Amino acid sequence: MKGLILSGGKGTRLRPITYTGAKQLVPVANKPILFYVIEDLVTAGIDDIGIVVGDTGDQIRQAVGDGSRWNVRVTYVQQSRPGGLAHAVKESREFLGNERFILCLGDNVTEGGVSELVSEFATGSMNCSIVLTEVKDPSGFGVAILEGDRVARLVEKPREPISNLALVGIYLFDRNVWEAIDSLRPSFRGELEITDAIQYLVQNGFDVRPHIHRGWWLDTGKKDDVLEANRILLELIPPAIHGYVDGGSLLAGRVVVGADARIINSVIRGPVAIGERTVVENAYIGPFTAIADDCVVRESEIEHSIVMEHCHIEGVRGRIESSLIGRDVEIRRAPERPSAHRLTLGDHSRVEVQQ
Ligand code: TTP
Repeated sequence: MKGLILSGGKGTRLRPITYTGAKQLVPVANKPILFYVIEDLVTAGIDDIGIVVGDTGDQIRQAVGDGSRWNVRVTYVQQSRPGGLAHAVKESREFLGNERFILCLGDNVTEGGVSELVSEFATGSMNCSIVLTEVKDPSGFGVAILEGDRVARLVEKPREPISNLALVGIYLFDRNVWEAIDSLRPSFRGELEITDAIQYLVQNGFDVRPHIHRGWWLDTGKKDDVLEANRILLELIPPAIHGYVDGGSLLAGRVVVGADARIINSVIRGPVAIGERTVVENAYIGPFTAIADDCVVRESEIEHSIVMEHCHIEGVRGRIESSLIGRDVEIRRAPERPSAHRLTLGDHSRVEVQQ
């Protein structure tokens, strides 16, 4: 079986981070979210992986390489435009051939990985399998209506509460998906929708099975979801201190300190990950925070946040929290007079200042 990971798209909900970077490479617990997806496929025994990329393709190629790091083969498919999930699959036809495959989103991770699913599908006779999970408010999701152990119908963002089983972004297909994809017309948002392809399979008598997922499902399309993923995945990292921690510092709970990092006269309350060569001095780093490589956090307090590489945070008075801070960002205390905020922000930045 092959694996296909979608890592193109527009990423509009994660601006301004996605102006300069691929959202699939946003670090969660100091590791790109896409790497978790790749590792789940590798664990499931899939060693032939296609990655669909868009405008940020070069960054993704550079970060992932040829797959040898995981002992797998990675093939890149350049999507001609962000034309929808089914469009991405359509443009991967040459890579996929007529093999069965698992389709994953490069910004989604589920608890427990995909091994069970993959072995079920590899040995089963179904034509398609979709992963569903119970959600409290299904109105923002695509949902499935079941009949026994089959999928009877899919409904996009239901107005009536007809089902609370939402589609998680993991799908398994056999060669019949090509017939379904060839039948598609663009939806109202101008995209080829994967749900329409599955609906075609259902309507034309193919065997489409549900797989109910229990446990967490992380879709990192928006800032708060990225922070939630960071919170959950930080709880799973094995603590390790590779850098220097001075006698005046206090580390509590699950903490990772990267090689050549320096923690001086600071309090770190885990779960926290500190990247390589990062300096934390006279600072407080609170739970659910990941600070990437080559940063400085000095005379400042931060918690429940992600700070990407090469940031400098110094002398900030109030505590920074629930923040997603991109690469090479500087946050410093302003001179005493005049007392004012001085900002240089890119388009679509969001700042909430203390009263
Ligand atoms: P989405 O998050 O649904 O779409 P998006 O990336 O365009 O983001 P936004 O809605 O914020 O503008 O996409 C899910 C995943 O699929 C994501 O990893 C990007 C990928 N994708 C493609 O590879 N090609 C596409 O044409 C689309 C729409 C998404």
